Amino acid sequence: MLAVLRVLAYLCTFGTLVKNIISYYFAPIQLRNEIPKDGRAQQRPKNVSKHNSLQTAPKVGEGNQCFKRLQLSSFEELLAVVKTYPEVYLFIGYGARAQYADVDEVIRGLLPMLQDIHYRCGEKRWLGIYGGDKANVTAPDLGWLMKRLQDEHGCDLLAVQAGGEPDDHPTFHFVPERQTKYDEHSGKTKTLYGGIHGGELVGGSRIYLADELVKPDSSGIRLLTGLISAGGGQIALEELRYADEVGLPWTYVPSRAGNTQAYGSTYGPVHNWVTDRLSNGPRPVLVSAR
Ligand SMILES: *[C@@H]1O[C@H](CO)[C@@H](O)[C@H](O)[C@H]1NC(C)=O
Ligand SMILES: *[C@@H]1O[C@H](CO)[C@@H](O)[C@H](O)[C@H]1NC(C)=O
Repeated sequence: MLAVLRVLAYLCTFGTLVKNIISYYFAPIQLRNEIPKDGRAQQRPKNVSKHNSLQTAPKVGEGNQCFKRLQLSSFEELLAVVKTYPEVYLFIGYGARAQYADVDEVIRGLLPMLQDIHYRCGEKRWLGIYGGDKANVTAPDLGWLMKRLQDEHGCDLLAVQAGGEPDDHPTFHFVPERQTKYDEHSGKTKTLYGGIHGGELVGGSRIYLADELVKPDSSGIRLLTGLISAGGGQIALEELRYADEVGLPWTYVPSRAGNTQAYGSTYGPVHNWVTDRLSNGPRPVLVSAR
């Protein structure tokens, strides 16, 4: 009954047009959501099994404690964990420099999507992958947004830590081999956190946007359900463009930067690109208005 009301409320709020866009957008996702019933969730990650049964994704409310801060030791283990979740999203957005002006506002923008995810996942928790930005309430960036989704929206977290130390709260973290580049400007060697460098995905991007996650298998199913961009700067833009190129479904939620000087604009570089992209005709994209 509750589910029916939810769907009705949803339809009333967004109207047929948006609903059509959403159906189009979510068609591959709904297909994908059938999978765990048929055995994909049977796979048990190596070395993770001893911590708990991961045969199916944990239920809302029980996930956090069970899997708190489990280090994954290989990319194969990461894939095995991802396969246990009914839906898996890559989140990109602002980092420590730009931050969010108002995380509640961002969550309100994400809410229709979050409600849909809950609706499809039922009691199961879902998985959010991100770059392991530190969660800091007084300097709220993507890290803080992810913590809020974990605490309030049934989302387990997988931090792909291309640099820095993993935070305490993500359910899983994976630390790939650190990649660096020499920066002639400053004369220093810098960590490559993500994006594209020399035509290749680098840092965290080479892990969470790897072919194994973004390319459909022989039955047309992707391990990543989609990418969600809540605002975003230069690296996020490179990641979103890559996702768009390989046909990964993505969603963008306009988000005001806390420090507008970081990119010289309120909504940041991703916003401008999405605006252009949408003006070129129908796309597998949904823009959520706040
Ligand atoms: C599994 O864990 C053992 C010890 O905890 C470790 O030696 C081994 O390398 C791990 N295997 C994999 C595939 O990560
Ligand atoms: C959180 O952000 C504030 C404000 O920028 C900073 O002073 C503080 O050191 C940060 N805390 C941590 C743990 O990084």
